[in-house]
Amino acid sequence: MRISVLTVLPGLFDCFLKEGIIGKAVQSEKVKVNVINIRDYAYDKHKVVDDVPYGGGPGMVLKPEPIFRAYDDISKKFGKPFVILTEPWGETFNQEMAVELSKKEHLLIICGRYEGVDERVKTIVDKEVSIGDYVLTGGELPAMVMMDAIIRLIPEVLGNKESLKADSFMDRGLLGYPNYTRPAEYRGLKVPEVLLSGHHKKIEEWRKRESLKRTLKKKPQVIENLLKEGKLTEEEKRLLEEIKKAETPPD
Ligand code: ADE
Repeated sequence: MRISVLTVLPGLFDCFLKEGIIGKAVQSEKVKVNVINIRDYAYDKHKVVDDVPYGGGPGMVLKPEPIFRAYDDISKKFGKPFVILTEPWGETFNQEMAVELSKKEHLLIICGRYEGVDERVKTIVDKEVSIGDYVLTGGELPAMVMMDAIIRLIPEVLGNKESLKADSFMDRGLLGYPNYTRPAEYRGLKVPEVLLSGHHKKIEEWRKRESLKRTLKKKPQVIENLLKEGKLTEEEKRLLEEIKKAETPPD
């Protein structure tokens, strides 16, 4: 997979692409990333990438020509990309979208800036995406958020394949179970006995129960939908009944 990024602040991506799991994925070329400075495609003497809005008003608007030129160049070099524009009012990014986007051969993320991007740029955009209902100064952090969620889904980027399976949101929207590591007791806080037992079947059941309990508490709608759609196993339905019974106060 290749991810191209168009931005006026390419330096913001330096650490992100060098460190940790993402850094390793880039180094081993499991993902090829090219961060492109929009300014490199501004051909005037001062390399101007933005201008005042027609009709007046505050702020500056990213000009269309450098973005179109960069898009043409990237398409010629690496093939036609699926184009995302970061926008505070775009479709909200979620795990399902990350999975969809991780299947694309070539993604191009255009980082919006200032008051916005010239509307004509949208003729080359496939999807406008927001990472939440708040306004940031630009699309670079949203681009990194999306890239992180997408790159970790590429096969073999995560060392242990099981960690993808156990992800919250990856299994029918059920949230993950609680995790503990050594020491077995810290400041009087004890790790649940069952996890120390070595009894794999019991541990598996405890994890299922905790995952259902957590989902019921934090995302009850997910449980309701799974029940309605018949997507819970008999064992899960039994565990759910037990959880509900345990939480109902006695008369
Ligand atoms: N640009 C500014 N705020 C944003 C947001 N929340 N999501 C995507 N792009 C943005």
